[in-house]
This record gives sequence, C-alpha cells and structure tokens, in this order.
Amino acid sequence: MADKQRGRFITLEGAEGVGKSTLLPVVRDVLQRYGFEVVCTREPGGTPLGEQLREVVLGTEDPMVAKAELLLMFASRAQHIESIIEPALSSGVWVLCDRFTDASYAYQGAGRQLGMQRVSIIEAWVQEGLQPDLTLLLDASRETSLARTRRRRSLDRIETEGDTFFERVRQGYLERARENPSRIQVIDANPDFESVSVAAESVLCRVIDQWADVLVSTVDD
Ligand SMILES: Nc1ncnc2c1ncn2[C@@H]1O[C@H](COP(=O)(O)OP(=O)(O)OP(=O)(O)O)[C@@H](O)[C@H]1O
Ligand SMILES: [Mg+2]
Repeated sequence: MADKQRGRFITLEGAEGVGKSTLLPVVRDVLQRYGFEVVCTREPGGTPLGEQLREVVLGTEDPMVAKAELLLMFASRAQHIESIIEPALSSGVWVLCDRFTDASYAYQGAGRQLGMQRVSIIEAWVQEGLQPDLTLLLDASRETSLARTRRRRSLDRIETEGDTFFERVRQGYLERARENPSRIQVIDANPDFESVSVAAESVLCRVIDQWADVLVSTVDD
C-alpha cells in the first residue's frame, strides 16, 4: 500500500454509569480483530495536563461556574487533540475515546443550561473541523445508571447532581443523536452487559463494513 490511510475516530458517550468504560475493551477488541491499530483514551484527560484538569473539574470543592467547567473541558480537549488524537489519526492509528465533545453538549450545553450554540462556537474554534467518525451513545434510565454508579465507588462532583440535571443530560445526548443520525448510534444500555456488548458489536461491525475503503486497505496491507 502506498500512503497509510488516516485512522478513524470512534467515541463512546452516555451519562455516568451507563457502561462506557466497561464497553471500551470490547470495542477495542473488535477493532483489533479487524487488524486496526488502536489507541484508547478518555476525556477529560488523555494527556498529563488533561488528567490534571480532570482532577480539577471532577474534584474541586470550590463551586465552579458553568462557563469555567466548559472551558476546562475544552482546554483538556485542545491538548488531547494536538498531542494524541491528531498524530494518531494522521499516522493511520484508530482512536477510541471514552467521551468527547458530545459530552460537552450534553453536560454543559444541556445539563448546565449554557446552550448548545455556545458549545458549538468553542467546538469550531478548538477542533477546526475534527469530528468523530462514529459515536456509540449508551442510553439508560436514571435508575439503571444510578444503581451502577452507586455500586462502583464514591461519586464525583458532577455525579452528585440530581435527577433533573441527569434528565437534561440524557435528553441533550438524544438531541445530539437526532441531529447527527449517521454518526451517533444509540444503544440501549439498560440490559445486562452481555446484551449491550452484542448490540454494540453488531452496530460497530455494520458501520465498519460500510466503510469499504477501510476494509480494502486492510486487505491490501
Ligand atoms: N450492562 C451492564 N449491566 C450491568 N452492570 C453494568 C453494565 N455495564 C456496566 N456495568 C457496571 O456498571 C458500573 C458502571 O460502569 P462504567 O464504569 O463502565 O460506566 P461509565 O459509563 O464509564 O461511567 P462514568 O461516566 O462514570 O465513567 C460498573 O460497575 C460496571 O461493571
Ligand atoms: Mg467511565
């Protein structure tokens, strides 16, 4: 093969406790079975600076205003894009990211009520056109998600928000899915993990099989 083809960018989204981080290795394994090289990462975080910002965003006891929260998320993202995501994609590596900008729309745009338009202005400036190629949005009820986060560990600053906040976040995500129907695939995350994995794998394989150029290049390698 002449030039190595650009990698694809896949994100996992959904409210806290829906199962993103648990699903991530399943998605990674599917991609690796296809023969793609994969980098797994997360937001906020993904770089040393990003991980420090994550601690601030999720851990500070100083009441943080919504605009500061949004800008810190995008500060982490700017660092992440330039130092990890873009270099990987450019060198043909696939990037699998636990949360990305749809989370800013859902949490800060809808949850914190900053508005989707405000998020899109910063998105355009920071991302300069970069968008995920595929987003798996795990959607679950508040009861499901709460039961799972409670089982897991102590709650962070954003997870301690109440039901109304959660419902706005969930609806914010679903609005994003309606507006980006081919990129964002909604998966029912209420069932047991085995069922969610099977559903996610099936969506993923269907989409990759539609990316015929990618499969041709894999065969050529
Ligand atoms: N489909 C499922 N059925 C039952 N339990 C699940 C399922 N998916 C994940 N879990 C469990 O729920 C808990 C939360 O899952 P996980 O940490 O993957 O969620 P998350 O979406 O990454 O949350 P966060 O947004 O807080 O990072 C974990 O204990 C995990 O084992
Ligand atoms: Mg997680």
